[in-house]
Amino acid sequence: MIKSAKLASSLLLLMGLALGQTVLAQDKTVSDGVFTAEQAAAGQAVYDAQCKTCHNMRFYRDTLRSWNNQPLLYLWESIMGTMPADNPGSLMFEEYTDVIAYILHEQGFPAGDTKLDPDNGMDQISIKSP
Ligand code: HEC
Repeated sequence: MIKSAKLASSLLLLMGLALGQTVLAQDKTVSDGVFTAEQAAAGQAVYDAQCKTCHNMRFYRDTLRSWNNQPLLYLWESIMGTMPADNPGSLMFEEYTDVIAYILHEQGFPAGDTKLDPDNGMDQISIKSP
């Protein structure tokens, strides 16, 4: 009895989180010019040095597909926490941000005037399937 009450309340909590997340991620998408061309260029250097040995661009296409509609900040946090797999968290915040700009650029999303910034609005940008 106690167990199922607990389960019910965790389910409610999860549903609340899921709802909150959808509302949060409505504002913008990665199609709206959310990174600059400079960031994408800088990200290519990071990608070539730190990511290319283990992943190709097709992998990122699949990744963006599976993250469809999630806030871009979550992907940034996930990459920062786990990548490069042989040395997680070893890059600077800016390098993780640039590499995301490069990945988006390579998947055909446009650059714009605003810099991608994990401290500023990245939780409001949702990922779209390329
Ligand atoms: C030493 C090998 C290695 C390197 C270097 C590496 N990765 Fe990974 N990466 C992996 C493995 C292994 C996984 C998990 C298995 C999988 O999904 O293929 C993974 C998973 C991922 C995912 C999927 C995460 C998800 O939750 O969907 C992303 C995105 C990613 N890596 C990005 C990067 C980026 C960006 C870099 C460069 C900063 C990088 N990786 C460098 C091995 C590596």
